[in-house]
This record gives sequence, structure tokens and C-alpha cells, in this order.
Amino acid sequence: MTDAFENLLNEAQKLHDANAVLQEFGALPVDPKRQVVEPFYIPAAKLMEADTDLFSDDFSSIRDAIIAASPDALWRETYKGTRIAELFRERFGCYCLIGKGGPYVAEDMAIYIVYMPEGLYYPFHHHPAEELYFILAGEAEFMMKDKPSKVLGPGDHVYHPSMHPHATQTHDHPFLALVLFKGEIGMTPVLTFPEGDE
Ligand SMILES: [Fe+2]
Repeated sequence: MTDAFENLLNEAQKLHDANAVLQEFGALPVDPKRQVVEPFYIPAAKLMEADTDLFSDDFSSIRDAIIAASPDALWRETYKGTRIAELFRERFGCYCLIGKGGPYVAEDMAIYIVYMPEGLYYPFHHHPAEELYFILAGEAEFMMKDKPSKVLGPGDHVYHPSMHPHATQTHDHPFLALVLFKGEIGMTPVLTFPEGDE
């Protein structure tokens, strides 16, 4: 019998096997080491579980696996101690599948699940790791410094180079994404404008 995390890892592998964009970003770790997760729940996790607007073209099985694993996950408080800490605890959902605090760990890649409900702004932030957002469900506007913003839906992706500031805005819909991190995966994101976006 497989547990919720094993099922989710299998779904991520299936998605990767079928998708050239994910393959170009990098191979998934082979047999990532299993580790014990201390579940940690935040209000944003409940929002995701109850969200009925996570529409999905071809990715409903991984979407459902993400939601099924939610109660066992360590939901992150990524921006604790910053100006967005309270808002994010309530509304921004992120847990790790491979990496620190996740059920699996590997040296060269981390994988996160990211959820935002409708009407939320994730301010400009940056990190040393290269990042690929692959949208599984819903819709959001993605912004990068010095580039035009793009509205992305299921099957779309955006690549963020190392240290390149980026931001996300949801409008009338939520979104759910699989996020791949490579390079300096140990460094957490920081807000580009700690006092407030320009
Ligand atoms: Fe990022």
C-alpha cells in the first residue's frame, strides 16, 4: 500500500516523464531518501483543501494527490518575521515534497507545492536557486523584474533565473503549482523590497 507522499511522488514522476519542459529543467532525483515529516498545519492549508476553483486540464490526478497529502505535510511559514508573515500564514500555502521539511530529500533538487487563493499578491522576492513553476490548476499572473507579466494556467510554466526578482498575483481564481528548485537549494527566498513593493 502506498501512502499519500509516495503517491504524490509517483504522480510528480509521471508528470515529469510526460513533460519536456520539466525534463529540460532537470532530472528528478532517483530514489530520494525518505525522512520523517512532523506535520504542521496553517490556515492556508485548509483554504487549499476546501478550494473548489482549482480547475485543471490534464493534471487532476496530481492535484488530487497534493490535496490528499496536505494533512500529513509540514506547511511552511516561509516569510516568518517579515511584513507579510500574518497574511501568508492565513492565505499562502507551500509545502515541500523533496527537500528540507519534506518527506523526501535529495542533494541537487527540491520540489515544492505552492497554492494561492484568489486575490492574493506575493510580493517581489528572489533566491539563489533557479526555479521552474509548472501550473497544475487555476490561473495567476506572474511578474519578473524588467519583463512583461504573463497570465498562466494549467500546463503553462515560468522559469526564474538565479536571484531574478519575481512576484505573483492571483485575480479571480486560485492556482496550484509544482515548483522545482535547483542549484543553491538550501537558501530560502527573501523579499526584494522588505519595506514594501515599489
Ligand atoms: Fe521563487
